[in-house]
Amino acid sequence: MSEKIKFKIDGKDFLADPQESIWDIAKKNEIDIPHLCYSPEPGYRADGNCRACMVEIKGERTLAASCIRKPTEGMEVTVNSPRAEKSRSMVFELLVSDQPEKDKSPDPDSKFWNWSEKMGVSSSRFPSKEKIEIDRSHKAVTSSCQRTPSTTTSCSAMNVKSSRCIKTVL
Ligand code: FES
Repeated sequence: MSEKIKFKIDGKDFLADPQESIWDIAKKNEIDIPHLCYSPEPGYRADGNCRACMVEIKGERTLAASCIRKPTEGMEVTVNSPRAEKSRSMVFELLVSDQPEKDKSPDPDSKFWNWSEKMGVSSSRFPSKEKIEIDRSHKAVTSSCQRTPSTTTSCSAMNVKSSRCIKTVL
């Protein structure tokens, strides 16, 4: 039997198995952390692509994707620090910019819209799709933007280099 790791989330002590992520422990303890590309349902692999689940870890310069980050002994994680909240909101705001309005969305009750609402992100400061043109000649890249639950593939939408498949219309 593996030894448990003791660490803190928002100042409370938790025990984790070494293979569990910060997100897993938070979920088990009813601490909400937004998530999009990872889900606990079967078939989703945590890859840390969307950055919707960022948290702050004491002593670390950069935020961490909680779905892929494993706690270490004595780690202090903050879910709702202003910095982590701002980062997650930015991710949703960027994604909102590419969506039709919620009431015109094919699935207004999607996980994306539910999290957006919870976070108070309903609009975006960023250019919408009307101002960009998708170059569909890169089929290999654009087809990989479709997310399907799988154990062998992951959402590469966030890995797409925008200069390769999106060009600005002047
Ligand atoms: S849910 Fe963690 S990076 Fe997407």
